Amino acid sequence: MAELFSSRGKFFGTATNLPYDDEQYMSILESNEFSQITPENAMKLESLVPHAPRQYDWTTADDVAGWASRNNKKLRCHSLIWYNHLPNWLASGRYDNATLLSIMTDHIKTVVNRYRFVCEAWDVVSEALNEDGNLRDDNIWYELIGPAFIPIAFQAAAEADPDAQLYYNDYNIEKSGRKVDGVKNIIDLIRASGARIDGVGVEGHFISTQVPEYDDMASWMREFTDKGVDVVFSELDVRIRLPGDHSKRGQQREEYGTICAACKNNSRCRGITVWDFTDKYSWIPDHFDGYGDACMWNDDLEKKPAYQGCSDVF
Ligand code: XIL
Repeated sequence: MAELFSSRGKFFGTATNLPYDDEQYMSILESNEFSQITPENAMKLESLVPHAPRQYDWTTADDVAGWASRNNKKLRCHSLIWYNHLPNWLASGRYDNATLLSIMTDHIKTVVNRYRFVCEAWDVVSEALNEDGNLRDDNIWYELIGPAFIPIAFQAAAEADPDAQLYYNDYNIEKSGRKVDGVKNIIDLIRASGARIDGVGVEGHFISTQVPEYDDMASWMREFTDKGVDVVFSELDVRIRLPGDHSKRGQQREEYGTICAACKNNSRCRGITVWDFTDKYSWIPDHFDGYGDACMWNDDLEKKPAYQGCSDVF
């Protein structure tokens, strides 16, 4: 798939937790299906700094960075500042503004600098918005630092790696509305402070039968790209109400086609990352009761109609 995408100047990537012992999986991951990889969990704060401030455990993240370098893949790295999946030591209430601010900027600088050689893009801030487009307040960074946590985070990332593409990443922004307006406000906020944002990562955890029509998708994408930022689908999957069957997978094929066409037809859509390529390791069944069958490859690591749906539009 990556060759089709690169013929249009775009990347095709996948998230992974690198199951080294699964030879069949690893051989697809290493193949030219993918030009870019995202560490699914290895670079999250809870994975990197599990026990105490500034005590890094680099084992898994170094592993994925080393694997990517050896296999000639670039990483789209994920995610520096997120309210979710934080280690216990970072629990609300323990820090004052100045301390949390220095924890945040130190973390960004340390991690971005360490992986400059392999991370071509970073999700700098993830999921800072409520559905109504306001900043969510169940977020320790916002609670203690205020809205400024966002531009400060982008500034720190830019200082640590001036060449990395810097993204804001969120879900439910695949259709115009208040949350998309909220993202545009974030872009303005970052720029007003003199910091840089290069793009918006649209997670794209879709539910089959609820994927927006092509025209709607093309128009919200233009809302972002008209603001002068790139767009990527950063975590694409299209989940099916189980059990999956031939007709549901046929519909899913059309939906993957719509999403891939929307990206293909906007020159500032830089590419698509699927949130693992196979149902075998997809996060969906564990997190969305009764859903699954969301990926382009099935449990047996065979391509599904969804794969064809995407490749057909190129
Ligand atoms: C998910 C992973 O896929 C799971 O393995 C983990 O248990 C929880 O996080 N939005 C994001 C991703 O930005 O980091 C999340 O990944 C899925 C939702």
